[in-house]
Amino acid sequence: MPSDQPAQKQPEPCSFVIFGATGDLAHRLVIPALYNLAVAGLLPEKLCVVGITRKTMSNAALRDSLMKGLREFATRPVEEATARRLLECVTCIAADPKEPASFDNMRQQIDELEAIRQTGGNRLFYLATPPDTFAPIARELGRTGMLSQQSGAWRRLVIEKPFGTDLASAKALNGELLRIVDEHQIYRIDHYLGKETVQNILVLRFANGLFEPIWNRHHIDHVQITVAESLTVGRRGRFYDKIGALRDMVPNHLFQLLSLVAMEPPIRFDAHSVRAEKADVLAAIQVQSESEALQNSVRGQYRAGSVDGTEIGDYSSTAGVRPGSTTETYAALKLTIDNWRWAGVPFYLRTGKALGVKRTEVAIKFKQAPFAMFSCTPVETLAQNYLVIAVAPTEGIALQFNTKVPGPSIRIDGVEMKFRYKDYFKAEPSTGYETLIYDCMIGDNILFQRADSVEAGWRAVQPFLDAWKKAGAEGLLGYKAGSEGPAEANTLLTRDGRSWRKLG
Ligand code: BG6
Repeated sequence: MPSDQPAQKQPEPCSFVIFGATGDLAHRLVIPALYNLAVAGLLPEKLCVVGITRKTMSNAALRDSLMKGLREFATRPVEEATARRLLECVTCIAADPKEPASFDNMRQQIDELEAIRQTGGNRLFYLATPPDTFAPIARELGRTGMLSQQSGAWRRLVIEKPFGTDLASAKALNGELLRIVDEHQIYRIDHYLGKETVQNILVLRFANGLFEPIWNRHHIDHVQITVAESLTVGRRGRFYDKIGALRDMVPNHLFQLLSLVAMEPPIRFDAHSVRAEKADVLAAIQVQSESEALQNSVRGQYRAGSVDGTEIGDYSSTAGVRPGSTTETYAALKLTIDNWRWAGVPFYLRTGKALGVKRTEVAIKFKQAPFAMFSCTPVETLAQNYLVIAVAPTEGIALQFNTKVPGPSIRIDGVEMKFRYKDYFKAEPSTGYETLIYDCMIGDNILFQRADSVEAGWRAVQPFLDAWKKAGAEGLLGYKAGSEGPAEANTLLTRDGRSWRKLG
């Protein structure tokens, strides 16, 4: 059973400035996460929460709206007193980067608030706004000196994926931000790093002696990373149609999983060492030519079908989707990592919407034993040695191996040994943002993406983006909503003598 953990560090007094305070992200995740931190006693004693809105709004109106959001999205019953204490810290300030004077005014108002609340000038600017506003907002914050740390107080900028839409735009965004702030002041959130099981990959690999000796090409046959969603594109048609499954999921969420599984052991468990190893392994993904990318990928778009008994229409009939759109809602790729640990070990990645089930997992397939000794056992009954790190729907780890069936003769059957988080640990349901927001407040960048790893991710997927764009409708496969994706995705593995794990 878990032992008592050391007390967690208390964040220093600060201002938590949320741009896009009337938006979905602020209501659905940021405020509920702050609330959970308040319940856990992990907010600073002295705190200002500043909600930045485009249009002038009273403090009371913003507080009411955030309270409604909290009631709707809280992960546990809301204690009125704690919620009120948190929301009483909220001040609304109207500002728009298109009106520079509003940022000068904001600066003055925040200075005044901080003098009253004695927060000492530490500020975290959380941009819960669309990606095209990141640079304009940062520029204004820079111009008005609000990101300057010269007074000795810290200033941090938090942004959320997508960090660009391809390699060139990601570089441009990084370049722009780095002209205004230092890398260590930027917190790029990928919500996958807020997930317990994802963080646990590091612990599993490096806090146990038994995995590292076999975690390499001598023992691992291949790795499968799956993020299957039963959700459709829903009401995000206009946004999604410009993005597609590859951009939406691969260089960020799937590459986070890949980098944690494939990185070298960091020399220390600190942000610099961990992020350097993650960036290195992403940079070691072989950049394919466009023709290799076409050979090593499958893309699909869902057609009418049913998911969990609900009828789903064609993707192309979704509101906001362009007629004749060739945007993929499913992507499967084969990648290789050019380093000593992984040379020759394929990494197969797949993600898709409107699939039959929601399943997020990393499956590490170990090399087959030479079964000559047991040649009488039909090969289908033998288990493949998979170590599966399950992220959703159930969080845990499973190991598949062969065992003897009880009885006088040697009969072999495959079994699975399972660890489920919920059987061992009692955790309060969370939004997944608590750790990330808390880390932003205490200044620990370990779970945040650095500019170089963002760019390395885009570099690896760029040939796929380019090749698919040129191919247009050619090669875009239909798959039925509720299925496992296009049947052709199997050939990516079957031609290598392998197969995907069943989703169902
Ligand atoms: C988001 C994507 O980043 O991640 C969504 O934009 C996707 O399209 C979501 O549905 C998946 O997150 P999770 O945590 O449900 O796997």
